[in-house]
Amino acid sequence: MNNSVKRAYNFNAGPAALPLAVLKKAQAELLDFNDTGMSIMEHSHRGNAYEIVHNRAIELLKELLSIPEGYEVLFLQGGASLQFSMVPMNFLPANKKAGYVMTGVWSEKAYAEAEKLGEVFVAATTKEGNYSQMPALKEINYDADTAYLHITSNNTIYGTQWHAFPNTAGVPLIADMSSDILSCPIDVSKFALIYAGAQKNIGPSGVTVVIIRRDFLEQAKKKGPTMLQYATFAKNNSLYNTPPTFGIYMMKLVLEWMKEEGGLLGIYKRNQEKAALIYDIIDASNGFYKGHAQLSARSLMNVTFRLADENLEKKFLEQAKQAGFVGLNGHRLVGGCRASIYNAVPYDSCQALCDYMLAFQKENS
Ligand SMILES: Cc1ncc(COP(=O)(O)O)c(C=O)c1O
Repeated sequence: MNNSVKRAYNFNAGPAALPLAVLKKAQAELLDFNDTGMSIMEHSHRGNAYEIVHNRAIELLKELLSIPEGYEVLFLQGGASLQFSMVPMNFLPANKKAGYVMTGVWSEKAYAEAEKLGEVFVAATTKEGNYSQMPALKEINYDADTAYLHITSNNTIYGTQWHAFPNTAGVPLIADMSSDILSCPIDVSKFALIYAGAQKNIGPSGVTVVIIRRDFLEQAKKKGPTMLQYATFAKNNSLYNTPPTFGIYMMKLVLEWMKEEGGLLGIYKRNQEKAALIYDIIDASNGFYKGHAQLSARSLMNVTFRLADENLEKKFLEQAKQAGFVGLNGHRLVGGCRASIYNAVPYDSCQALCDYMLAFQKENS
């Protein structure tokens, strides 16, 4: 790659920025992976060259997330959206109900899919106030007989995030971590199942990571299509059929990059610094920029904010585009602007955005 290649300030919500070092490594290995005379994409998923990559990706996920013994790491396809159906297909029996905590559109979608397959209930919701906050942990309602409690750890559209998770005692806790997995340390042992589409913090789209506790997996319904049972993937090391080999290879490179960047703690520290840069501009703007999320619920991954009116927002976004910023449009449900600052978004891009925000405020107030 030409070292002077011009990279955009990429704030896309997903698929999102990938580390430059990872892209360069993939480019260097593209035609000839490890002296095999072919790209990793051209290798059999049953061959040794690919199998090493596959197993290393699993190992690195276990290491970086400190996944305890007794959990399986699985690679699926179908995005996080398929998990909305697979979770109830596997874990919602006819005689039980599943609780869903509604903190945004992705929780609503998860609920809607589960509702097609069994009995569900809303354990808590922050819909009032357009999902600008998270529920207090003590306000989540469910009983000991609940099949599972489902949460969305980071609400990509609204820019809100759980900063502490409920202690559910015996009730299995399931989390959609699509937009904040690997952004900060978490206690995996609190969860029966975690799922995440790769295309924000883990790699390109096409792979879904599932982390599942083995004793929970054993409770899964045994009936249903083979490809929709977690057990199929667990029994076959996610090699029952052809996995998305290139996506998993890219994931392995991203995880190696994370290790080099100081592991989860190093990444978390930088994520905090990046988010603080932008939130500080919002907070010091005397209301020129208004954050959507309540302070206690602010996300480290998606910073959502509005300007005084839609015309000013349009101008802000148009000039930002001309200045090389990509992906700053807010989701239509919140409007305004959103900067998605996942792990691979460099600190310098966040600094450049802050400089732009300051200059724009000066010119327009
Ligand atoms: C929190 C969350 N869950 C689920 C999804 C849907 O993911 P996918 O497109 O992989 O199905 C997204 C996508 O942005 C998301 O942000």
